[in-house]
Amino acid sequence: MGGKSSVGESLGKAVAVIAGNEVGEAGWVGGMVNEASAWQASTRISNGTQINVRRMLAIIAVSMRRQYGAASPSSQANAPAPANPTRRPGKINANLSDRFPGRFLRPIPILLEEFMSPMFVPGPVDVSPDVLAAQTAPMLPHRGPEFETIFQRASENARQVFLTQVPVFIVTASGTGLQEAAVRNLAKRDVLSCVNGAFSKRWYDVALSNGKQADLLEVEWGQPLLPEMVAEALQEKPYELLTIAHNETSAGVQNPIREIAEAARSASPETLICVDAVSSLGGVRLEMDAWGLDMVLTSSQKCLALPPGLALAAVSDRAMEYARQVPQRGWYFDLIRMEEHRRKDSTPATPAMSLIYALDYKLERILEEGLEARFARHSALAERVQNWGERCGLRLFAAPGYRSLTVTTVASPEGFVLDNLNAFLMRRGMRIASGYGQLKGKTFRIAHMGDTLMEDIDALLFAMDEYLEGAAGRVAG
Ligand SMILES: Cc1ncc(COP(=O)(O)O)c(C=O)c1O
Repeated sequence: MGGKSSVGESLGKAVAVIAGNEVGEAGWVGGMVNEASAWQASTRISNGTQINVRRMLAIIAVSMRRQYGAASPSSQANAPAPANPTRRPGKINANLSDRFPGRFLRPIPILLEEFMSPMFVPGPVDVSPDVLAAQTAPMLPHRGPEFETIFQRASENARQVFLTQVPVFIVTASGTGLQEAAVRNLAKRDVLSCVNGAFSKRWYDVALSNGKQADLLEVEWGQPLLPEMVAEALQEKPYELLTIAHNETSAGVQNPIREIAEAARSASPETLICVDAVSSLGGVRLEMDAWGLDMVLTSSQKCLALPPGLALAAVSDRAMEYARQVPQRGWYFDLIRMEEHRRKDSTPATPAMSLIYALDYKLERILEEGLEARFARHSALAERVQNWGERCGLRLFAAPGYRSLTVTTVASPEGFVLDNLNAFLMRRGMRIASGYGQLKGKTFRIAHMGDTLMEDIDALLFAMDEYLEGAAGRVAG
């Protein structure tokens, strides 16, 4: 089937293929969709909009699958082998149907990576189809043994990703919620907010808006915070709490947290060190225990490659002790209340169960890939993108030596219009991100986090080269 087919024609044929096979025989819809999707990845409708037919076919297949039941094992054996273990869909059937015997409609193993068109934006990142499917498990009583087992396993596995022995809280919120938890629980009054971009600045605002006496230690965005700066500030005033982002996603800067924590501890041993690892945890090494950090928080939609909606945090024993003495910790983000429930493998309020199913599933995949392999992959992707940027004569916004391993922020060349580049990229099923906050319009960002592979980056850079080289006029807007 040629690329010039209409959407209606493509979809009509796809539905016919799926329906003809599936309704009568409960055969493997996936094989059919694979065949159908081999026609064409995407097709154009008259106004020029591009529709990703594969993605639509996948959605149709999911709904039919849920309606008509599970695949036969023999048909699954014909499934094409997935290229990448991080996106491997195979295990979901065994895991989830074991967990929910007799209740679980098996998700379709056909939703392979070929259905994904990569987005190079720093969250929400692409979520692989098997992880999306993991969310479709049936609801359970959230205060019952079946769900508690899942919650407990996810929390245990998360400890390995945080590189910590202390428990990990799984919270229905985004990362900003846990920024608020940090300042509400770990400071009666005095907070030192280390800032070098929009997200660390937000944390400062969160502290002020929660009535804390927060002082700014700010450097020019694009520059790192350095250990001696932090030590000096703490020598002047031994703050109760220090907040800092490991990876400042707006500026594309990675702060040297290990060295900063060491300097902070020797300048002011009682100060609690709280690190925002929203865009680094699970992609870049951050050793909570070995580096002496008191709280590390992250969001689900970045390096963990999950949908948005969960935030995770590990809190040291001494920080938990301190929190007990802090008045007015609030209710939803009260760490002490969370801990009482966590001990029962539960949460104070109803959790986003579907996301926790996905988290549980994804953490196993992450550990299967291996943390070291994951760190190495992120590092290699960053190197590739940053070398490419320099080779093209683009100015990388972050200072050399402190460039993020998960997102590269590029200073926009004169006359550069991101929308034009993205329109070009989106015709190839890709997109990159604009600058953030006060850097919007001045920078653009290429994310290389989560499950992104080198081949994805190669495809992106190939297209960017094509755009930059082939159309100097377009670069000029
Ligand atoms: C470093 C950093 N901190 C905090 C946030 C806010 O996280 P969330 O959107 O999950 O609240 C972001 C979001 O991009 C971030 O990159």
